[in-house]
Formats: sequence, structure tokens, C-alpha cells
Amino acid sequence: MAGRVAGKVALVTGAARGQGRADAVRLAQEGADIIAIDIAGPLPGVDYDSPTPADLEETVRQVEKLDRRIVAAKADVRDLDAMRAAVDGGVAELGRLDIVVANAGICIPRAWDQVTPQIYQDTIDTNVTGVWNTVMAGAPHLVQAGGGSVIIISSAAGIKVQPFMVPYTTSKFAVRGMAKAFAAELGQHHIRVNSVHPTGVNTPMGSGDMQTAIGAAMATYPRLGAMFINMLPVEGTEPEDVADTVLFLASDESKYITAHELAPDAGVTEF
Ligand SMILES: NC(=O)c1ccc[n+]([C@@H]2O[C@H](COP(=O)([O-])OP(=O)(O)OC[C@H]3O[C@@H](n4cnc5c(N)ncnc54)[C@H](O)[C@@H]3O)[C@@H](O)[C@H]2O)c1
Repeated sequence: MAGRVAGKVALVTGAARGQGRADAVRLAQEGADIIAIDIAGPLPGVDYDSPTPADLEETVRQVEKLDRRIVAAKADVRDLDAMRAAVDGGVAELGRLDIVVANAGICIPRAWDQVTPQIYQDTIDTNVTGVWNTVMAGAPHLVQAGGGSVIIISSAAGIKVQPFMVPYTTSKFAVRGMAKAFAAELGQHHIRVNSVHPTGVNTPMGSGDMQTAIGAAMATYPRLGAMFINMLPVEGTEPEDVADTVLFLASDESKYITAHELAPDAGVTEF
């Protein structure tokens, strides 16, 4: 079987749509079978549309169209027991696990004094504890396989502050550190752990009332709008652009890259 990740099995969280679906499809195009996990239901506190079970089914359809196997499960990354059950079930069916993409996340932009304790908690629970739960559910299987690659989806907001997102920025810096901490200890098992830091990506995260929420926050200090500008002359990137970075980190082409941050960020973090 040809392909840059042929014969491997990849776990992707947040796989119902957006970047998670693109990651699942790109990895499948290169020969991987997929364990796809998503809450596929109402997201806490967000301004944009929540995903549905039909979204997760569409990911299944797209992967199966590529003649790859996929096991999909509706689970909440905030629930460690549910994550372990879903991942263990997928591995029992597909035989092994080599790649973990901790992608599920939420973003609730607000001016600093409009952030409620609930917004703060939901963001940290999903974006930090959810990533920890994902690695804890997946890593034992990578140890079992004799090695693998863990890819944590942070954000440009995990390298350079993005304004009007105190909880989100906090969470994305946190998982950048988490990646390095896991990389140190998992290295002995030939497991690499890296973080990915995209700039704005055109996904359903930008749907619904998201632009209104960002606009309202921006109005409190418009000068900070410049912090979102990319160095390259593009306003946004596509999920497939980030999936190419994920594929590189999943494949053996990056076999000596670990504890590293890779930024498909169009230069925003240096601008
Ligand atoms: N869109 C952007 O501009 C952008 C930029 C940089 C980083 N990111 C990050 O990329 C990742 C993917 O985001 P996206 O743009 O594809 O957004 P998205 O909202 O389209 O997709 C995120 C997916 O994660 C799932 N999810 C959220 N909370 C979950 C939970 N508790 N349990 C299980 N699944 C859950 C959602 O259901 C959804 O399918 C996120 O971590 C996000 O923070 C996004």
C-alpha cells in the first residue's frame, strides 16, 4: 500500500468538521485508518453553530470513499472515561494506534471584562483538559505500538497573544507547554509530540454570530485589530493547509522532530 502514513492508525478529535475532518481525510488519503471522535452536539457557550451527528457521518463517508477504515464515536474530550472507552474501542477494531491528533477545541472571543467564569472554565476544560485526556487515552496504545506521533493543535494564539481571547490564549499557550512536557517523557518510547499553530482558518468556527462577537470585542480597543494581520497577503487559510502540516508531523518525514512548534500561520506570529 502506497502512502506517507500507510498501514498506520490515527486518532483525530474534533473530527466531525473543519480541521479535524480535513486531517482525517488527508491522513486517509495517505493510507491511514481513522478513529474519529467528536461531541457532535451542542458546544458550551460558543457564538457559532454546533456540529451534528450528520457532520460526523459525513467524515465517515469521506474516509470510506478513500477505501480506508474508520471507527467514529460520539464522545466529549472533557470526559476521560468516555475518551478511554472510545479510543480503546477503536483500537480493538482497527488493531493498533500510531498517530494522535488532539484537535478538538472551542473559541469564545470577548473583551476581558466580558469573560464570565463559565466561559473561562468551558475553554480551559475543552482546550486544555480535553487535550490532556486525549493524550492520556491515546499514548498507552502508542507505547504498545513501539512509537508514534502526537500532534496537538494549538493556535497562533499559543505563540503570540491574540487580543480579546484571554481564556483561549491561555489555553493555547498551555497546550504548547503540554506538548513539550509529554515529549520529554514519551521520548523513551519513540513517541514524538509536537504542537501546531495555525493562523485564522476558514472553518465553521467562524460561522453564526462569531464575527459579531469579534467585532463587538474589537470595538473596545480597535488598535489591537492589527495583531490579527498575516505577513503573507492572505486573510485566512483552509483546513487542508493545516492538514498538510499535520500529515508531515504524522509521517516519518518528521521522524526526528519532537518538542517542536510548527506554525502554518502565514507569518502572523512574527508580524
Ligand atoms: N478556525 C481557526 O481560525 C483556528 C485557528 C487556529 C487554531 N484553531 C484550532 O483548531 C482546532 C479545530 O478548530 P476548527 O477551526 O476546525 O473549529 P470547528 O468548530 O469547525 O471544529 C472543532 C471541532 O471540535 C469539536 N469539539 C469541540 N469541543 C469538543 C468536545 N468537548 N468534545 C469533542 N469534540 C469537541 C467540535 O464539535 C467540532 O467538530 C481547535 O482546537 C481550534 O482552537 C482554529
